[in-house]
Amino acid sequence: MMEKNIVLVGFMGTGKSTLGRALAKRLGCRFVDTDLAIEEITGLSVAQIFRRHGAIRFRSEENLLAKRLAGQFGLVIATGGGMLLNSANVELLKKNGVLIELRAEPDVIVNRVKNKKHRPLLKKGDLSETVTGLLREREGVYDAAEFAVDTGQLSFAAALNVVHNYLKKKGYIK
Ligand code: S3P
Repeated sequence: MMEKNIVLVGFMGTGKSTLGRALAKRLGCRFVDTDLAIEEITGLSVAQIFRRHGAIRFRSEENLLAKRLAGQFGLVIATGGGMLLNSANVELLKKNGVLIELRAEPDVIVNRVKNKKHRPLLKKGDLSETVTGLLREREGVYDAAEFAVDTGQLSFAAALNVVHNYLKKKGYIK
């Protein structure tokens, strides 16, 4: 049993949900995707929350969820890319979690997200410019993580192994 949660953080399109799900399966523990959890709690899609109630409402749902997750153990958690924008969430998730950043170069991110329509922040304007702008705005935000993996440089299996090996080496998992 893991004493801490494993919390994947990082920008949109870096592979948090896919890698998180696979890691949870490998470790035999529960997986929480914060976007999906918020959709379940509210009964609305992320896009609907942004459209009907605004970004502030979504960020407040993220904060409520972070508070709830801070009291739980043994989870693999994939966070939405904006979760760490609120420093209170950083503290909450770090309390009982090890933060791992997934990252990728801007062109890799653009390629991965370009045919997906569910991300409200990427709907307007030129996609490359939006991604570059957001990455610039968020510079340093994901440095709250203690370890980072560039998923653009590795195959999916290799990226999963890098994360798994790090957690083992540090004694977070057996
Ligand atoms: C967001 C990232 C999304 C989702 C929402 C806002 C962000 O999650 O939470 O659209 O601000 O970076 P993913 O990182 O899973 O795409």
